[in-house]
Amino acid sequence: MTDGPTTALMRKAYARWAPIYDLVYDKLTEPAARAAVNAAVACGPKVLEAGVGTGLSLGYYPSHAEVYGVDLSEDMLRRAQAKVDKRGLTHVKSLQVMDVTRLGFPDAMFDAVTAQFIITLVPEPETALSEFARVLKPGGEIVLANHFGQPSGPVAAMEELASPVVKAIGWSSAFKASRVEAWARETGFMDVVELKPLFPAGFFKLMRIRKRA
Ligand SMILES: C[S@@+](CC[C@H](N)C(=O)[O-])C[C@H]1O[C@@H](n2cnc3c(N)ncnc32)[C@H](O)[C@@H]1O
Repeated sequence: MTDGPTTALMRKAYARWAPIYDLVYDKLTEPAARAAVNAAVACGPKVLEAGVGTGLSLGYYPSHAEVYGVDLSEDMLRRAQAKVDKRGLTHVKSLQVMDVTRLGFPDAMFDAVTAQFIITLVPEPETALSEFARVLKPGGEIVLANHFGQPSGPVAAMEELASPVVKAIGWSSAFKASRVEAWARETGFMDVVELKPLFPAGFFKLMRIRKRA
């Protein structure tokens, strides 16, 4: 895969994060990851995990699921593969190095695409969302779990101040859910069907966007 400068930086950053990632994020992201997995599997068994990372969520799927994981970072994926091998997660069908803005899957292959804690990191999130929509079956859903900045008001102002800290741990408050809502409206065939607060204290949110049947 040929890397642009941002992609190369992202790979470098996650090569550094990979050895400590689970230690920092496992317990914090587990409730949101479980909620995303449940929402994805409710659409059907065939699920794309976009930006699967070290595979923290892979153990949350039921055994009848068929999960395909992709990520830019080989270092993160190596850890995901180790979990699959160690725990015998036979519902994981493949783990591949792939950029979510250029998915190597055919149209309408998946019942759901879930992206947990990644969409705000991608320099062209609309391109990634359009790729997710392309590989979805009609009636299928994109399920995002993420921190989205507050639209306005005192919390938004506080987030703005805290933004360097939040960025350092990989979450930007500058990215609002309204950006995804605007993308969905513009497609004319994707509908936001749910936006709900999750642990901790609504900092993470679950967003479901359905492709019209
Ligand atoms: C914060 S981690 C989240 C990992 C996993 N989803 C989780 O919840 O533990 C973000 C992941 O997105 C991956 N990523 C970032 N940009 C990407 C892109 N354009 N294509 C594929 N993966 C990407 C990174 O390599 C990293 O593994």
